[in-house]
Amino acid sequence: MPTAHDVKDLKLAAAGKAKIEWAARSMPVLELIRERFKKEKPLKGVNIAACLHVTTETAGLMITLKAGGANAALCASNPLSTQDETAAALVKEYGIPVYAIKGENNKTYYQHINQAIDIKPHITMDDGADLVSELHTKRTDAVSNVFAGTEETTTGVVRLKAMANDGALLFPVIAVNDSKTKHFFDNRYGTGQSTLDGVLRATNMLIAGATVVVAGYGWCGRGVAQRAKGLGATVVVTEVDPIKAIEAVMDGFQVMPMAQAAPKGDLFITVTGDINVIRLEHAKKMKDGAIICNSGHFNAEIDIPALRKAASKVKEIRPFIEEMVINRKRIYLLADGRLVNLAAADGHPAMVMDMSFANQALAAEFVVKNHQKFEKTVYAVPEKIDAQIASLKLKSMGAKIDRLTPEQKKYLASWELGTT
Ligand code: ADE
Repeated sequence: MPTAHDVKDLKLAAAGKAKIEWAARSMPVLELIRERFKKEKPLKGVNIAACLHVTTETAGLMITLKAGGANAALCASNPLSTQDETAAALVKEYGIPVYAIKGENNKTYYQHINQAIDIKPHITMDDGADLVSELHTKRTDAVSNVFAGTEETTTGVVRLKAMANDGALLFPVIAVNDSKTKHFFDNRYGTGQSTLDGVLRATNMLIAGATVVVAGYGWCGRGVAQRAKGLGATVVVTEVDPIKAIEAVMDGFQVMPMAQAAPKGDLFITVTGDINVIRLEHAKKMKDGAIICNSGHFNAEIDIPALRKAASKVKEIRPFIEEMVINRKRIYLLADGRLVNLAAADGHPAMVMDMSFANQALAAEFVVKNHQKFEKTVYAVPEKIDAQIASLKLKSMGAKIDRLTPEQKKYLASWELGTT
């Protein structure tokens, strides 16, 4: 039977396969897991509905889940992040059902999520919790089948914790984002590099000498600020958390409210996870030619409807660049306010997604073995798995570290020894 799908064009499959194989070269930890999964089949007969960015790195994860015996289907976790050739290759070359087309409208986006749900998942794999949300609101018919879910991103974990606190969560979820081998690296170095990559591919602007305003100094904001500084920008950080703001100051950045930063910035990047961080009142103060974009999960960080409504002119002037004339000044919005790193570039490099998706694969195995013991709440990936991924990654990078001597172990476990 042909593999079920709704993708742009299966003729793109050969190009997609070559790209998937290229990414796989930088995902050695996932490869080790895949080789073990092939032999042990820990996911045999397990249905997995994955709602993730459809990229070459995600392809590596889907192929690994299938190697482990899972029946896995994939839909997009963002309407603009799909790589159409990757989607085609997953269907045609690897026999994995995919429902995703870059640029799909909201209706098709949710239709695709529902097609993934139609496999009757035992495990859900989300990036932003749209799949879990759909299951809890419109597809409750499919909930009783689910053992547990996994969640990839900060925004999704925040949503799921809110659901658990309200007693609304109907199955347990593993917060993959909270693993150290995920957010220390993917959120910081991945978002840092891929966001600047997206801005550069869309605009080809010179970062050196520009003032870059980074809204939010969580792990993603730190990465973006660091990389912008590395390219020669003057970096301004906006924050609401006083501790993160002190960190930003001590990391060498100027910290100020958005209202004060608005007239200074040449480029604004939101990475807060919250809504309406850049509003009309800010846009009105911006310089002629200011560029605004978002690298947080949802396209809600910039109040785009208010900006468009106030604009005397709105026009797409290049792929991923929309010009709005507000108060006779030109403001450029990138990638429709969606994740600029995935919409205008290829997302995080495979080298870093290797650890994120190793967490996903091992979390799925953990869920299959342990779901009977879980409550309907949000769990972390066990520290042992996190540490194992770190060791494998380090080894794959050819780096070695010291081991504690027996004397050092004893010292760390004792409280009597102090000043000598
Ligand atoms: N999130 C950020 N970058 C990604 C990538 N390359 N693949 C999947 N999800 C991502």
